[in-house]
Amino acid sequence: MNQITAYAPATLANFNVGYDVLGLSLNDIGDEVELRFNGTEENNIIKMINGDGLPVDRDKNCCSVVIRKMQEAQNKFTGVDIIITKGFAAGSGLGSSSASSAAAAYGYNKLIGNSYSNKELVAFAAEGERVACGTAHIDNVAPSILGGIVLSKGNKASDLIELPLLENLYAVTLFPDIKVKTSDARKILNDTIDLKTLTQQVSLMGAFVASLYEKDMELFSESLKDLVVEPMRSLLIPKFNELKNAAHENNALAFGISGSGPSVFAIAKNKEHASNIQQALEDVYKDLNIKIQTRKHLLCKQSGARILNK
Ligand code: HSE
Repeated sequence: MNQITAYAPATLANFNVGYDVLGLSLNDIGDEVELRFNGTEENNIIKMINGDGLPVDRDKNCCSVVIRKMQEAQNKFTGVDIIITKGFAAGSGLGSSSASSAAAAYGYNKLIGNSYSNKELVAFAAEGERVACGTAHIDNVAPSILGGIVLSKGNKASDLIELPLLENLYAVTLFPDIKVKTSDARKILNDTIDLKTLTQQVSLMGAFVASLYEKDMELFSESLKDLVVEPMRSLLIPKFNELKNAAHENNALAFGISGSGPSVFAIAKNKEHASNIQQALEDVYKDLNIKIQTRKHLLCKQSGARILNK
């Protein structure tokens, strides 16, 4: 085998209760990365489809950086030509750089004969995040590779915890086409929080994890609240409070900011519920001069990176 195409999905990072440590795969939208051995020791981005403005320099592109890190770890430099097809907007807050990074790590690993486990790939893919936005957070790349909901208690492969998912849930996402750079959305956050907020947020995270194991939809809904980051970042998203109210009026199980924004998400019990929430969110923006994209995503565990038969 000297050529392969890998796919990795978009993700909802933070998922309200786990800033930088919790994320969820969206399965049905994502990026494709085609890799072909090129007989040299260098990795070249030879084509980028739907990625206007994204870097193609091998030292700045997240895919080539991830692959280089994997080669350095093995001290074996089998170069590849890389074609990247972006499946959703960069800068949306739905994990665009991480979908490409995850697909690159997953695809290159398959091409070199599975040197690493999927969990081991997460740290390599996180290096793509470092080059794209300045920090190697793993809450997008982990679910993009592993699928489902992933919690990380540290940076090692053994720190990744794949949580169970409640069945039949849908995520509804709304992407307002405005610019929010992840690096900027990180800079506006305070470094400290008060003890009372910390206590409340820790209890919500515990309750959230318990709700998944106990399959308790009510507890799931009550626990998915972000007391820490949302108050600071919601100011960057036009009509955030109106969107949140619309979601709650339509009985969404949860509502919040996807990753660093500007996308927001709501969680619905089933497809029909998701359609109602989607309509209500779209209505909030109907008089604004901002382009939006809304989608419904069925949540499932088998939703991580995969090889496409092409
Ligand atoms: N956890 C990261 C953040 C995700 O919120 O900055 C960025 O997509």
